[in-house]
Amino acid sequence: MHQTLEMRALNVEENMTSLIMIFGATGDLAKRKLFPSLYRLYNKGKFHKFAVIGVARKSMPNDAFQASVRDSVVSALGNKENIDEFISHFYYQPHDVSDSSSYGSLKTFADQIDEHHKLEGNRIFYLAMAPEFFGPIALHLKSDGLTDVSGYKRLVIEKPFGHDLESAKELNKQIRTAFSEKEVYRIDHYLGKEMVRNIEVIRFANAIFEPLWNNRYISNIQITSSETLGVEERGRYYESSGALRDMLQNHMMQMVALLAMEPPIRLTTDEIRSEKVRVFRALRSVEGDEVNEYFVRGQYGEGEMDENSVPKYRDEPMVDKESNTETYVAGKVMIDNFRWAGVPFYIRTGKRLKVKSTKIVIQFKDIPMNLYYQTEKMLNPNLLVIHIQPEEGITLHLNAKKAGGHLDAQEVRLSFANTGIHAMNTPEGYEKLLYDCMRGDATNFTHWDEVAYSWAFVDKISAEWQKTKADFPNYVSGSKGPDAADKLLEKDGFFWWPVTDLEVDICK
Ligand code: BG6
Repeated sequence: MHQTLEMRALNVEENMTSLIMIFGATGDLAKRKLFPSLYRLYNKGKFHKFAVIGVARKSMPNDAFQASVRDSVVSALGNKENIDEFISHFYYQPHDVSDSSSYGSLKTFADQIDEHHKLEGNRIFYLAMAPEFFGPIALHLKSDGLTDVSGYKRLVIEKPFGHDLESAKELNKQIRTAFSEKEVYRIDHYLGKEMVRNIEVIRFANAIFEPLWNNRYISNIQITSSETLGVEERGRYYESSGALRDMLQNHMMQMVALLAMEPPIRLTTDEIRSEKVRVFRALRSVEGDEVNEYFVRGQYGEGEMDENSVPKYRDEPMVDKESNTETYVAGKVMIDNFRWAGVPFYIRTGKRLKVKSTKIVIQFKDIPMNLYYQTEKMLNPNLLVIHIQPEEGITLHLNAKKAGGHLDAQEVRLSFANTGIHAMNTPEGYEKLLYDCMRGDATNFTHWDEVAYSWAFVDKISAEWQKTKADFPNYVSGSKGPDAADKLLEKDGFFWWPVTDLEVDICK
């Protein structure tokens, strides 16, 4: 084990000196996630030397930018410790992303800041902008000399990475003119979540799970990511995305890959990524009429959430009144390899559902013969539940003797909750991802091959759905989603384990 960890450490550069340039520094992501995450890293003493140049369209004096960084940190974390010193590392540069001369000024400014803070020519370009700018910015960074540095250069790019396989390929081509694959950090913020990262450890560090982790002992796996929010102000983006592209192509498929991959021979970035890619290669492609056999789509109608009425999706701002966009998707994913042949991975995600919850349920097969009965019903199958959010933890559902009974068994739950001191110190996803990027550890970012396979899978589903107008809306806001999602499992003899019930044991 010791040796493996050393190997993992050798995999990264650990140079915490960097100039971070945030494109889109006046936007929501920068304010809500990036500044607070940088502040937490700073207060934990993680940086050696650093400076941040905030880049955005509007002109603004430096001190106004620093004040906005301060505000976002204080409102996100309620903490002011060392804040003045922290914001003194922030600079602002107004910028026009389509104008070469603007990149020229940015380069001069970046070189000065680099010199002033002794940042060793290390540069991180963080694109927190609308996706149509990703490609053009990358091209300019190269052609206008911003990537000519003596240290490392890295590009951090938010989702969506393209709209489909074709556009993703085009974007990748543009990015790769300026950055090598190793220098591209494609964010999937689910890979920053503590319990998503824990999947690997739960699987590969426990002798009681790994031998059972296959089609001989697992009957099905269910991954649910349900949200209570609607599309909010993102109607324009969401109309061309839908739940399939917004959540399934990236977050849900990443969780499938982590659950299904083979043990990597070493814990290095390349080994882990290549095992994940092998899962994507083994995905059973679903197309044409089969799509409706394997996938279900839904769109929310109006309803009540927390005793307030909420509008239907078609009445949200910037949404077509006849919209065919899905706000819910459920599907059966099959992985045609030796380990998983015959085991369905059921996935579902949607907006305006009853609870906010992300959970993975691994359902083990029934024992060969039931000697014990729970009162009036058969034994429960063993379940391993990985609670991703809002609570974080693991629950193992077992059967044990009912106290005082004779042959009666009852379900018992062994739970571990990442609460108390651990939860308080659990870094937020973005904090971990920023830290990884500075350390040069790309393990928890998506490799191009993963993106490409995942788009190829999703494109076929979307092509089929575009052909027909769905009967939307088909679920009420605040409900568990469309009935068709239940039928998807019923026809295989399964049912969705309710996410709300599973919450009970871990929350107490
Ligand atoms: C984002 C999607 O990637 O993930 C959003 O674009 C979605 O539509 C969000 O709401 C969900 O993230 P989380 O961390 O709240 O589950």
